[in-house]
Amino acid sequence: VKKVTTHTLQRMKAVGEKISMITAYDFSFARLFDDAGIDVILVGDSASNVMAGHETTLPITLDQMIYHASSVIRGINRCFVVVDLPFGTYQANSKEALASAIRIMKETGAHAVKLEGGEEVLESVKRIVAAGIPVMGHLGLTPQSIYKFGTYTVRAREEAEANKLRNDAKMLQDAGCFGVVLEKIPAILAKEVSESLVIPTIGIGAGMYCDGQVLVMHDMLGINTEFKPRFLRQYLNLHEQITGAVKNYITDVKAKNFPNDKEQY
Ligand code: KIV
Ligand code: NA
Repeated sequence: VKKVTTHTLQRMKAVGEKISMITAYDFSFARLFDDAGIDVILVGDSASNVMAGHETTLPITLDQMIYHASSVIRGINRCFVVVDLPFGTYQANSKEALASAIRIMKETGAHAVKLEGGEEVLESVKRIVAAGIPVMGHLGLTPQSIYKFGTYTVRAREEAEANKLRNDAKMLQDAGCFGVVLEKIPAILAKEVSESLVIPTIGIGAGMYCDGQVLVMHDMLGINTEFKPRFLRQYLNLHEQITGAVKNYITDVKAKNFPNDKEQY
């Protein structure tokens, strides 16, 4: 199989082929998504929410991200794997950022790291890129800053914040990022940024003009059913299907229908 690389993603933008990206946190789902032909798997720090049950992404640790990422890597053949640098492992200074990125690359076999922010993290981006590690940016509603925002509403509606985002996107590209996630911003702003950058933009709640799209697997598969923002398209209702299957199993066990004479030794 021909493996997806940063060059593949760059070429996809150049020829207008949209990039498909989904989160995964373990071996089995990574294998399913790779088999389906996904271009990029993101080992997101959303693992803090959907795997660990935390309210925010802040608590997850670098060791926990490394556990998820190394599990994902064992499941894939073709797709490109990006791993989130978790909160507190890159903001203090660029040396610490590089050390965190190196741990992810060395201990997981992943292909790239992602971090949140623009100008604030520029030195870190440059230092990680200089070490030969591909970096993806993340702008807009960056969940590690949720307590600064105080709300999960759409970002960059005001001109000042939109301007900062435009500048941040350009700075991330100039610092050597191979792509940037745009989360929950107006489609018109995402269009402008996507057209102004050479590197691909990957949108989540950022409209149809981004160069690719990303969704959290638990949301798009309907494992989470409480989370229903406008931008989410739910492709399955796994909550219903799985609770249904497990209810049938419980019924069979209680009724002494499982196991039957062919299901025993
Ligand atoms: O952690 C995550 O799942 C993400 C995506 C929502 C972009 O960063
Ligand atoms: Na994330």
